[in-house]
Parts: sequence; structure tokens; C-alpha cells
Amino acid sequence: MTIRMTRREFAGLAGAVAMTRPVFAQTGAQLLTRAIPASGERLPAVGLGTAQVFNTADAATRQKAASVLQALIANGGRLIDTASTYRDAEVVLGDVIAPAGLRGKLFIATKLEEPDAAELKRSLSRLKTSKVDLLQLHNVSDPQQSLAHFKEWKSQGLCRYIGITSTFHGDFAAVEAVLKREKPDFVQIDYSLDNRLAEKRILPLAAEVKAGVLTALPFGRARLFRAVRGKEIPDWARLFAGSWAQFFLKYLLGDPRVTAVIPGTNNPAHMTDNLGAMRGPLPDPDQRRKMVAFVEAL
Ligand SMILES: NC(=O)c1ccc[n+]([C@@H]2O[C@H](COP(=O)([O-])OP(=O)(O)OC[C@H]3O[C@@H](n4cnc5c(N)ncnc54)[C@H](OP(=O)(O)O)[C@@H]3O)[C@@H](O)[C@H]2O)c1
Repeated sequence: MTIRMTRREFAGLAGAVAMTRPVFAQTGAQLLTRAIPASGERLPAVGLGTAQVFNTADAATRQKAASVLQALIANGGRLIDTASTYRDAEVVLGDVIAPAGLRGKLFIATKLEEPDAAELKRSLSRLKTSKVDLLQLHNVSDPQQSLAHFKEWKSQGLCRYIGITSTFHGDFAAVEAVLKREKPDFVQIDYSLDNRLAEKRILPLAAEVKAGVLTALPFGRARLFRAVRGKEIPDWARLFAGSWAQFFLKYLLGDPRVTAVIPGTNNPAHMTDNLGAMRGPLPDPDQRRKMVAFVEAL
């Protein structure tokens, strides 16, 4: 049976379909990439965080990880953030990436607790790779912490970039001291629409020392989704966001000092939705102020 539609009926149907899925998820719009300040290398601006989601090296977790990585790569993503302390996450990633020959398509960032050669060797072996793209010192808490070993490992080709991380506001003074003295290639910090301390404390200094910025906890561990449960995205935000995830991520990407956001998920549909934040327009400064007011009024 052939269904005939007028042009107007077809346009109406296409519009209705578009409203049911993230507007920017699969469109042909150009992907948002950001230059890593230290090198100019461009990085897709949405990646994947792996805390909690790949904790157990079993078949079900490997299957989920494979689907999420497939969604990441298929939608133009490259960046995966993990850590030696995320239970089995490095093992699961290595088990999925190596046999599928995906290493060359990915930018792998991991973290060590200490500048410890044995810990680095273990991470490389678990990830089944001879080098990581970014090696970060996890949870910097002492202003005197040194990146000398990390710099040595970078010169030996064991990592391409080095960085530091923290999501503890009480340790931001230490993060600032290490950023200023050691000038790492990256700093990873907690930053979300409802948690904006990094705008005042870390982002200005990162720009000054030319460190790329990765934003941990971009949804505040799903706190933002809980805050808008049952609510529709406001009409004015539909100009740039097709879903709540894109609304939250595009707020962060609206700041040009942010190199990439790394939302955590073990759900391939969520991964695809998040990657949609690399497409279409970003909110301008006025729209970003409106987003803050919107979230503060919830
Ligand atoms: N000190 C540090 O260096 C540090 C500390 C904390 C975190 N991090 C990094 O930051 C990453 C992100 O933090 P996080 O994973 O804890 O928290 P998050 O990204 O703020 O939030 C993750 C939560 O959001 C949900 N979610 C993701 N995409 C969604 C979507 N499109 N729609 C609805 N729900 C969605 C996830 O559930 P689903 O799984 O169901 O999608 C999960 O519950 C970590 O994975 C880690 O790599 C670093």
C-alpha cells in the first residue's frame, strides 16, 4: 500500500519525529572539537567517564562497555577517562579495545594515585597498550606534589600528555599551586551547571598556564537529571539542546576554556545522546546566564 502525503503533511510528520529524539544526535552538523593548548591537536569535545560503570570484569560488563565504545566511536568521539582505582575499569577497557583493534581510534586518559612506576606498568598492562594519551595524577591534595616522574615518562613516550585532577574543593589551593608550578598539559576538575566553583578558581588559571580542561562530574553524578525529572526543556533552549543531557553539557562547552566533558555512562543510548552535544549551536553568554537562573530556580 502506498501512503500519499501532501508536502505540508510530510513536513508536519518529520517535525513530530524530530521532537521525539535528540535534535542534534544524528544530524550531519559539524562536530565540536577543541584544541589541546599544549599541542594544537584537536580533541572531540565530548568523551566518556568510566568511574563506577565498568567496575567488574565479567561478560555482561564487557558487553556493555563494547556497546558504549561503539556508540562513542560511531558518533565521532575519541576520549575515554579512566583510573587505576576505578576497580576493574582499565581491565574491561583493555579487554574490549585490544581485540577489536580500536586503540588507534581512541584518546585514553588514565590516572595514578602516586608517581609510581609499578602503578603505571600495571595500568598499561591492564589497558593492553604501550602508552596512554594522557596520564593524570589523581586527586592532588598537597601543593608540593611533583610531576617530575610524569614528565620523565612523557619524554620516554609512555604517555603523550600529563595532567592533574581533583574534585575536592578543599584541595583547590593545592591544585592551583601544582598547576602554576608544574604547568601540566591538562587539569581535570568537577564542573557542572549547578556546581560552578571551577569558573572562578580553576578555569582562569588553566587558561593562563595553557592547560586543557576536562570537566569531571558534568551531571553532578546524575543530580541534575533528578532536579529536572518530569520537566520539559524550556522552549528557548531547544534552539541549541535536544535533550536535558545536551542542555547540561552545552552549558559547560559554552565556555571556550573547557577542552572536553567526560560524562559517565554504561548505556549506549545515553552515550549517543551525550555526543549530540558536539553538534549544533552552543549557548551564547546571555543564554548561559539564563541556564544558570533556570537551574537555580528549580
Ligand atoms: N577526581 C577525579 O579525577 C574524578 C572524580 C570523579 C569523576 N571523575 C571522572 O568524571 C567522570 C564523570 O563523573 P560520573 O560518571 O561520576 O558522574 P556524571 O557524569 O556527572 O553522571 C553520571 C550519571 O549520569 C547518568 N547519565 C549519563 N548520561 C546520561 C543521559 N544522556 N541521560 C540520562 N542520564 C545520563 C549516568 O547514568 P547511566 O549510566 O544510566 O547513563 C550516571 O548515573 C567519571 O566517570 C570519571 O571519569 C574524575
